Amino acid sequence: MIEKNNQKNINSSEILGRILFPGEEIQKKVIELGNRITLDYKGKELLIVCILRGAVIFLTDLIKHIDLPLSIDFMSISSYGFNMHGSGLVKITKDLDENIEGRHVLIVEDIIDTGLTLSYMLRNLKAREPASIEICTLIDRAVRRITDLKIKYYAFKLEEKYVVGYGLDYKQKYRNLESIYELRTDTIKKDIETLKSTLNK
Ligand code: IMP
Ligand code: MG
Repeated sequence: MIEKNNQKNINSSEILGRILFPGEEIQKKVIELGNRITLDYKGKELLIVCILRGAVIFLTDLIKHIDLPLSIDFMSISSYGFNMHGSGLVKITKDLDENIEGRHVLIVEDIIDTGLTLSYMLRNLKAREPASIEICTLIDRAVRRITDLKIKYYAFKLEEKYVVGYGLDYKQKYRNLESIYELRTDTIKKDIETLKSTLNK
């Protein structure tokens, strides 16, 4: 993967702030999580549900460190709203291909913010009667949480910051960075100003 310092083609200087979680640190956490999951589910089979698109990079690294029989499936959810984080209205745009009834499901997500996306998903998936269902997220940003979620596995906790890289995007870009970066606050401010002027038109 590409790092900011040796990239030539990613026009990042106005967008990316400092590195919050370097690639090597992420890899260490991913190994730890994989080992924990392997122990916790010993003797069981896992069905890993990856939430598109942000969690894909985390998923592909994580499953290499889970020593269990497992399958993967994908689900895509869109939240409607005009702010960067969505508004709370959630819709499934790609459902699972697998039947999850009676199976041990582990949801893999990139970042949990308000928790609205995941609580909607959990409600929806629990109705399909899995044997168990747990959450594994790369980042847990609890400051804006407005739902009650039990997160069994997380790699990092984060305060009020918007981040990109290692799967996380800003306007669909920067997912291919190896480390996780803070988004520059002036970029966020500019976005909010554009949004306000659009709304006032
Ligand atoms: P929630 O429903 O508020 O928990 O929103 C979680 C979703 O918003 C995640 O799945 C991400 O797609 C997106 N998201 C929230 N914060 C960030 C961020 O800092 N960077 C990139 N995507 C984010
Ligand atoms: Mg997401």
